[in-house]
Amino acid sequence: MTTHTVLVSGATGFVGLHTVIQLLQDGHVVRGTLRSPKREAEVRESIARHVDAGDRLSLHQCDLLSDNGWDEAIAGCDYVLHVASPFIIGAPKHEDDLIIPARDGALRVLKAAAKAGVKRTVMTSSVAAVSAGHDRDTTHIFNEDDWSNTDSPEIGAYEKSKTIAERAAWDFVKSDGAGMELAVINPGAILGPILNSDSGTSGEIVRQLMTRAMPACPRVGFACVDVRDVASAHLAAMATPDAAGKRFVCAIEYAWFSYIAKILDKRFRKDGYKIPTGELPNFVPRVMQHFNPVLKQIIPNLGKRRDYDNAQIKSVLDWQPRSLEEMSVSMAESMIEFGVV
Ligand SMILES: NC(=O)c1ccc[n+]([C@@H]2O[C@H](COP(=O)([O-])OP(=O)(O)OC[C@H]3O[C@@H](n4cnc5c(N)ncnc54)[C@H](OP(=O)(O)O)[C@@H]3O)[C@@H](O)[C@H]2O)c1
Repeated sequence: MTTHTVLVSGATGFVGLHTVIQLLQDGHVVRGTLRSPKREAEVRESIARHVDAGDRLSLHQCDLLSDNGWDEAIAGCDYVLHVASPFIIGAPKHEDDLIIPARDGALRVLKAAAKAGVKRTVMTSSVAAVSAGHDRDTTHIFNEDDWSNTDSPEIGAYEKSKTIAERAAWDFVKSDGAGMELAVINPGAILGPILNSDSGTSGEIVRQLMTRAMPACPRVGFACVDVRDVASAHLAAMATPDAAGKRFVCAIEYAWFSYIAKILDKRFRKDGYKIPTGELPNFVPRVMQHFNPVLKQIIPNLGKRRDYDNAQIKSVLDWQPRSLEEMSVSMAESMIEFGVV
């Protein structure tokens, strides 16, 4: 396999770490970005548990809100995987707290990449940029032709940030990309093994279930995907010629919270975990949202199911995703290993 020099933004994050590990396992030279150099030791330690990076990994201090460091970090790279974007628990004080770093950060990275003559950038977007703000009937199956409606009063700040950032990226590449290619991965809710004791925003669903933070499950769900399959989709989108110019919905089937709870209950009840498998009537989360920021975020989606067509990622990237059971159980197991639950 040909090896390349690849920049991964957001190397401290859940997806970023897994992506760096897979690139190193494939023999590539990796430059990761992080906001705080204080986290370098922790990042290296998490990676070292899975692969010997030797001298193939360097870490560079870059913030999505500043121009500093991006040109130097990207110079000489063949590919850029732009993963970083703010992904927080709960709603921000102001939507711009998410929109500005997401959009301006993506443009900073793309500009530096185009200037450096990078062949292709792969950007992490989300199904949040595909299906949010639509009151479609439940039979509509979303695919890569769909875009979230940023004018809807129902859309959340995170969904808006991902949609605006992804649109800005496509517009930039069309008008100022200097021939650089773009491919975009649009994951669903990401589960799968965490790599250190930082369970992050993605870990919240499984953490709340394993710790019985709620007495029963709100009637919400997600099209889920294993983090290892999100990382491998980035690598495939980087290397597959036909991926250029395409978005890829990256999720398997839709699962209600209570269904994930039942999977966890079946596996972990014998170890003493009391996972709530029942469902809450919808009025309860509406009241409890004032005490639980995760609930606040999901209120617009109560009772609404969203299905996605993942035919494109399977056919173009030959993507073979893990099952819901595997991603849920492996996330919980890793949380036990790192003392999170
Ligand atoms: N997890 C999901 O369910 C999910 C689903 C769909 C799409 N995504 C997308 O996947 C990507 C990775 O998310 P994740 O799940 O890995 O979340 P995460 O663990 O919170 O990682 C987010 C990464 O972005 C970085 N970041 C945030 N704001 C930044 C800034 N101003 N400057 C530089 N870096 C910044 C974080 O750096 P710090 O460590 O310094 O904060 C971190 O490395 C994001 O684009 C997210 O929108 C996630």
